[in-house]
Amino acid sequence: MKKGIFIAFEGIDGSGKSTQIQLLMKKMEEKAQRCYQTCEPSSGPIGSLTRQILTGRIKTDNRVIAAMFAADRLDHLLNDVDGVVPKLEDGIHIICDRYYFSSYAYHSVDVPMEWVIKTNEESAKILRPDLTIFIDISAGEAMDRITKNRFHTELFEKESRLQKVRDNYFKAFELLKEEKVLVVDGTLKSEEISALIWQAVEPLLENNK
Ligand code: TYD
Repeated sequence: MKKGIFIAFEGIDGSGKSTQIQLLMKKMEEKAQRCYQTCEPSSGPIGSLTRQILTGRIKTDNRVIAAMFAADRLDHLLNDVDGVVPKLEDGIHIICDRYYFSSYAYHSVDVPMEWVIKTNEESAKILRPDLTIFIDISAGEAMDRITKNRFHTELFEKESRLQKVRDNYFKAFELLKEEKVLVVDGTLKSEEISALIWQAVEPLLENNK
């Protein structure tokens, strides 16, 4: 039985997820909550392999890529060294930087979304986020931020691609109405975004007592 709450952060590259994750972790810890921060691709063996796709070191068919992210996700949930599910059962709250909506949004640029959703069906069955927080910025804004802050761009970091990824996020939110999703305007001030997120998360913590 799950006891901790599970929050997934989503957004196109450069959306400011990392900053908001730090701020939320801090607020939760101030409330003396036991929290753990993690990400996908995971830091496990399948996640490391998957990251080599992002850098272009491994090249393979788009369906294989989507399946690798799905395999990493299941391993991230279930492995008994640092798996998410055992931690939740221990009463630890988890904040995850990207979860299955990333797969729906990114891989559906190349393969049908229905197939990606089906490939991740087992993860969705095992663990649906108590809340998915989508930090929304336009593809143009994302490109400005990415080119300012980084020395290299990864596979998905092209404006037209990011535009499709953003569209796919909204298509997936529309398709999967049973999911709890908070969309926040990522162009607001950092403190404003953080306050909106806290407004949604605090009641979840209260109800979980
Ligand atoms: P990462 O370097 O972790 O950066 P970010 O801060 O943007 O999350 O990159 C993760 C990349 O992996 C990002 O471009 C989205 C992509 N991705 C997928 O394509 N499918 C997935 O299922 C996940 C979790 C991520």
